[in-house]
Amino acid sequence: MKVLVVGSGGREHAIIMKLAESPRVTKLYCAPGNGGIAKYADCYPVSATDLDGMLALAKELAVDWVFVAPDDPLVMGMADLLRENGFKVFGPSKAAAIIEGSKVFSKNLMKQYGIPTAGYEVFTDADSAIAYLKEQNSYPTVIKADGLALGKGVIIAQDENDAIAAVKAMMEDKIFGESGSQLVIEEFLTGPEISVLAFTDGKTVAPMISSMDHKRALDGDQGKNTGGMGTVSPNPYYTEAIAEECMQKIFLPTIHAMNAEGRSFRGCLYFGLMATPKGVKVIEYNCRFGDPETQVVLPMLETDLLDIMEAVEAQTLNTLPMYWKTGACACVIMASGGYPASYEKHKAIMGLQENGQHSNALVYHAGTLLEDGVFYTNGGRVLGVTCGADSLETALQRAYAAVAEISFEAAHWRTDIGRRALEADR
Ligand code: AMP
Ligand code: GLY
Repeated sequence: MKVLVVGSGGREHAIIMKLAESPRVTKLYCAPGNGGIAKYADCYPVSATDLDGMLALAKELAVDWVFVAPDDPLVMGMADLLRENGFKVFGPSKAAAIIEGSKVFSKNLMKQYGIPTAGYEVFTDADSAIAYLKEQNSYPTVIKADGLALGKGVIIAQDENDAIAAVKAMMEDKIFGESGSQLVIEEFLTGPEISVLAFTDGKTVAPMISSMDHKRALDGDQGKNTGGMGTVSPNPYYTEAIAEECMQKIFLPTIHAMNAEGRSFRGCLYFGLMATPKGVKVIEYNCRFGDPETQVVLPMLETDLLDIMEAVEAQTLNTLPMYWKTGACACVIMASGGYPASYEKHKAIMGLQENGQHSNALVYHAGTLLEDGVFYTNGGRVLGVTCGADSLETALQRAYAAVAEISFEAAHWRTDIGRRALEADR
């Protein structure tokens, strides 16, 4: 089987390294890929959002499978276009990807089908949103742009000034373009966050091992929101009781709701959850694997990923046993100094082997470039340094030991990835 993976981050690197373990995968391609991925897959400079370009590439390479990893091409309909042209695709249709593509859609879906989530209202103009904020007068409050906004569309406003500024920035200044033409204002929830990625073929839901992301840039959950600065799996807050509650109240109802809407979801559905004092609630859905959750989930997967992709496509997921490693996995993101605000690129990375790896860690490249055998930084998040072990404590120790041996100018990483999880375990 020849497989083309669409995307260019650490998540795609983790998908490719897992697919490389499959005895039936004979050739791996990636578009556009990155420096580290280039050691495992032939990379082609086709943008992940270039639907026609990707179709042409899939035809030229005569691949059997295309794995569409990022949100934007899925929301734009890349999976549909490829399927219409006879390719097997891992990734939901455009109709189903709307579960991530529109927060208004997903909030209304949850309300209609009784799936627990934060209370909310939808607004299409700034004046009524501001009037509502004044009438509610309850802070913090959460303001979300309807559409995709590179993971930056959620603002947690601490007071009325913040909230009004956020509404004006989204609706009047259009900082997220058309994504902000509608917005959701929702209740602020508290509790530990849990990420659960689940394979689904529209009939069966097979949750993967749980994980915990660390979204803020600095230690102690301080600083700006980022794409994610590190992850651990499993998430100790995801107890068996909570897993059962999620299956009955969230996972199965979501699959049924999407079917009832004629938007059957096939692929990886990401449940962003919060264990609140009033039960588990959905914070967000994503129509794809999480980044950097994938970097700690797929290394724990024992079942052949290609077998799972085939079962999802054939809607036979119920007959496929799925196995996970015991123990734990940790990923520490090394980012460019300044990220998530502005940062410099093209800093030489030291401490990697020729294949971009480290002898004691899996190194998933997020933003790197390979030039004359040297890896250079080429993005905000640069590397995801990952280790598995019998315990989370050991996995973290090993990951941080490897981080200490890798360097580039102005490298930045959090030193407390997994701390909250370790505390919960005690
Ligand atoms: P998102 O970009 O949708 O992943 O949201 C970013 C982060 O905002 C989430 O991971 C949560 O930490 C936080 N968040 C989103 N919605 C809420 C909410 N209703 N209450 C509290 N925190 C939230
Ligand atoms: N790590 C959060 C996400 O992938 O959306």
